[in-house]
Amino acid sequence: MTQPQASIMDQNELKKAVAKAAADYVKERLHSDSVIGVGTGSTANYFIEYLGEFRDDIPATVASSEETARRLKALNIEVIDLNAASEVSIYVDGADETNPYLHLIKGGGGALTREKIIAAVAREFVCIADESKQVDILGEFPLPVEVIPMARSHVGREIVKLGGDPVYRDGFVTDNGNIILDIHHMSIVDPRELETKLNQITGVVTNGLFAIRPADQLILGTKGGIKTLT
Ligand code: 5RP
Repeated sequence: MTQPQASIMDQNELKKAVAKAAADYVKERLHSDSVIGVGTGSTANYFIEYLGEFRDDIPATVASSEETARRLKALNIEVIDLNAASEVSIYVDGADETNPYLHLIKGGGGALTREKIIAAVAREFVCIADESKQVDILGEFPLPVEVIPMARSHVGREIVKLGGDPVYRDGFVTDNGNIILDIHHMSIVDPRELETKLNQITGVVTNGLFAIRPADQLILGTKGGIKTLT
C-alpha cells in the first residue's frame, strides 16, 4: 500500500526523534571501553548521524550490516569485529513490528542474522521505532527468514507445513551470501514458539523473530511525543 507523502514525512520525523533520544541515552552511558552495537535501516541511519556528533567520545562500535559499517566509517567512527569485543554495552536498532512484550519482527532490510547476533551479545538492547510499528499480534509484516541457498525449497515446504506462505525475496543476497524467504499471512500468537520451530528447520540460518531475546527497552515515537516502554 502506498503511504501518502504527508504521512511518510511525519514518520521520518518520528524516526529522527527516537534516533536522537537513543543517541542521547547512549552518550550519557559511554565509558572508555564501551562498544556500541549499531543496527540497520532508515531509523538506525538517523541514529548513526547523531552518533557522528560525538564520534570522538565513542571508543568503538560493532555494525549489524556492511551498509551500517560503511556509514559509520564514513563518519570516522571506529568499527570493530564483534569477535574483538569482550562485550557490547548497548545495541540500538529499529524494528518492523513490535508487540506489547517488546517481541519484534526484524529483517525487513535483510540484516536479521547479524542483528540477532549482536542482540544476543549486548547487555542492553534498545529498540527505536515510530508508532506505526506497534501491533498487538506480530505477523502483518512478512516475517523474514535467512536461508542457505540450496535449502530454499525444503525450507519453503516446511514453512507451509507451519501454516505460513513463504515468498522468495527475488534478487536479494544477504551480507552472509544467503537468500531470504518472507513469510506472509501468519498471525504469530506465540512468537517464542514459532521462533524456536523455524530455527529447527535444517537450512534456516536465522528468522526475524526477536522474542527469545526481546528488546529491553523500546523508544517509541508517537505524535504525542516520545515514550519509553520496558
Ligand atoms: C533491518 C531491520 C530494520 O531495523 C527494520 O527493517 C526497520 O527498518 P526501518 O528503520 O527502515 O523502518 O530489521 O534488517
